[in-house]
Amino acid sequence: MAKLAVIGGTGARALVPQDHLVRTTVDTPYGPPSGPLLHWREADDDWYFLPRHGLESTIPPHCVNYRANLWALHELEPDWVVGINAVGGIHPDAQPGRLVFPDQIVDYTWGREHTFEDHMNRPIRHVEFTEPLSPGLRARLVELAGIHDIDHLPGGCYAATQGPRLETAAEIDRLERDGCDIVGMTGMPEAGLARELELEYAICAVVVNEAAGRGPAEHGIHAQIEASLARGMAGVSRLLQVLLGGR
Ligand code: HPA
Repeated sequence: MAKLAVIGGTGARALVPQDHLVRTTVDTPYGPPSGPLLHWREADDDWYFLPRHGLESTIPPHCVNYRANLWALHELEPDWVVGINAVGGIHPDAQPGRLVFPDQIVDYTWGREHTFEDHMNRPIRHVEFTEPLSPGLRARLVELAGIHDIDHLPGGCYAATQGPRLETAAEIDRLERDGCDIVGMTGMPEAGLARELELEYAICAVVVNEAAGRGPAEHGIHAQIEASLARGMAGVSRLLQVLLGGR
């Protein structure tokens, strides 16, 4: 029996079944999370889903209460936390529809509540973040994606940008020079907070568009997102099933 918590962004509600769902509204010392916790059981396993942008997708990336979200999940004492993040592809191999399991992050966000280390009333801790995503969980996801023929890139560097606007082509050039392969708006401070809480947290990024200035100009970014999100999410759904089933 395992406990999997999923923080889902754009399009990830498709992972949640319609039936036998328990919705729990929770509160935390940091305020309410983005939405209710959705819980269901499959075989002997507990699944939890937290909609990162709220049930109606009304909370933009810079307004998400990341601390409340991570705190609420931590209280469940999950075995794993998987963040599903829609991203733009910077590296030519990060093609729309493909999953990426990043192993590095560069944080370009600002002004977000990004730590639990304030008002803790104890000596400050500087958590290690050399490897920002759980190596064990990442390795498992990469292995399973390979075994089950799920289109993916095994690693890469995730650029976390502030949003909610998309980037300029020059900003994407800069991220590429910085060594980033994919770009999204929610990986931080989520990953940092997960580490502070010692959660086994990894990102399963779904490439939904080519980043600004990378695709042919005639394909608008939003058209690409619509076309590739469902394909990517089908892969995520299979992957999470085997993550639990394959233990
Ligand atoms: N940039 C930033 N965040 C994103 C993108 C993008 O191109 N696509 C999906 N989330």
